Amino acid sequence: MTYLDYNATTPIDIRVAEAMLPFLYGHYGNPSSTHSLGISAKAAVEQARAQVASLIHCLPDEIIFTSGGSESNNMVLKGVAHTFRNKGKHIITSVVEHPAILKPCKYLESLGYEVSYVPVDSYGMVDPSDIESLITDKTILVTIMHSNNEVGTLHPIEEIGRICKRRGVLFHTDASQSVGKVPIDVVALGVDFLTIAGHKLYAPKGVGALYMREGLHIEPLIHGAGHERGRRAGTENILLEVGLGKACEVAMTAIQSNALIELTAYFYNRLKESFGETIHLNGHPERKLPNTLNISFLGYDGHKILDSLCDVAASTGSACHAGTTNISPVLAAMGVSDRVGRGAVRFSLGRHTTREEIDTVVVSLQKVIKEYQHETWNNH
Ligand SMILES: Cc1ncc(COP(=O)(O)O)c(C=O)c1O
Repeated sequence: MTYLDYNATTPIDIRVAEAMLPFLYGHYGNPSSTHSLGISAKAAVEQARAQVASLIHCLPDEIIFTSGGSESNNMVLKGVAHTFRNKGKHIITSVVEHPAILKPCKYLESLGYEVSYVPVDSYGMVDPSDIESLITDKTILVTIMHSNNEVGTLHPIEEIGRICKRRGVLFHTDASQSVGKVPIDVVALGVDFLTIAGHKLYAPKGVGALYMREGLHIEPLIHGAGHERGRRAGTENILLEVGLGKACEVAMTAIQSNALIELTAYFYNRLKESFGETIHLNGHPERKLPNTLNISFLGYDGHKILDSLCDVAASTGSACHAGTTNISPVLAAMGVSDRVGRGAVRFSLGRHTTREEIDTVVVSLQKVIKEYQHETWNNH
């Protein structure tokens, strides 16, 4: 099996697993306890917090551990909506966000909030001036994803950050797909909140973090005891938090390598050589994640291609809403036609992908497309 679905999830890095092991067995103390087992558990959590902070260039206290990207997104949207409801009830987001943003927005709309959804261009990118023109004195939050999970397009976050700062509006970015793949500096981005999802960067599933700028206070999503400085209740999940911390430390060096960019470019060139004008790249050709190739095989059905490629794990649309033959809402928002969109396959490469695997996948694709053509020809 060749795994080319790293945007859906990643395997746990061996270094991450090794860092977690002691916390699976011996080190079971509660970080709130004052005895030695508690003290060492607390030290492990704080080390992990510092490792996460270091990757995105913030202070350790600005990191709140959560159960993942969905929780971090929900915490920001619902927390800001509740806390600033007397200032206004207007939120701005984009049409290409993950359901972990769109669904809480729908929920807030049901409570009387107004949500504006900015469109995207044919590359799947928002235009900052569209956002600026929607801001009113009732706007309490702008939330725009750092990169798109399906096509990999990177949004102009720094520019939007500058606009939000100038207009005095809080700004959140869902960086679930970006952290660990591209360098992130929360100060340079000008964000007040940033979402991290552990399982997209070789940490286990079920752990994530929220960056919340120092000095900000929002209503917590989970009320209880004073964990995470009163921002998210519940005894710390030390095992997973240590895993996320280590994954962030490993990512610091992995990000500096160009290997993945080169491998993805190699894959794209091999596909161009093999299929020429019968493929189309969805998403921005340069301003995109280094590992993501969303390719439409024109005139074919992406689901059928993947079913025939039984030794390759990839996605059509996105893994979160696979199993439907409608074109994905992201491709539709980009103005991709039904014919082009139906042929879309998302390949997302990762740390363990090799050139040999890419060569094998290209040969398998050539075979599948040939069989497909043969079948179509015979049916006519
Ligand atoms: C852009 C984006 N946001 C949020 C999420 C949800 O993250 P999690 O699975 O950690 O809840 C995902 C996962 O696919 C994602 O791609």
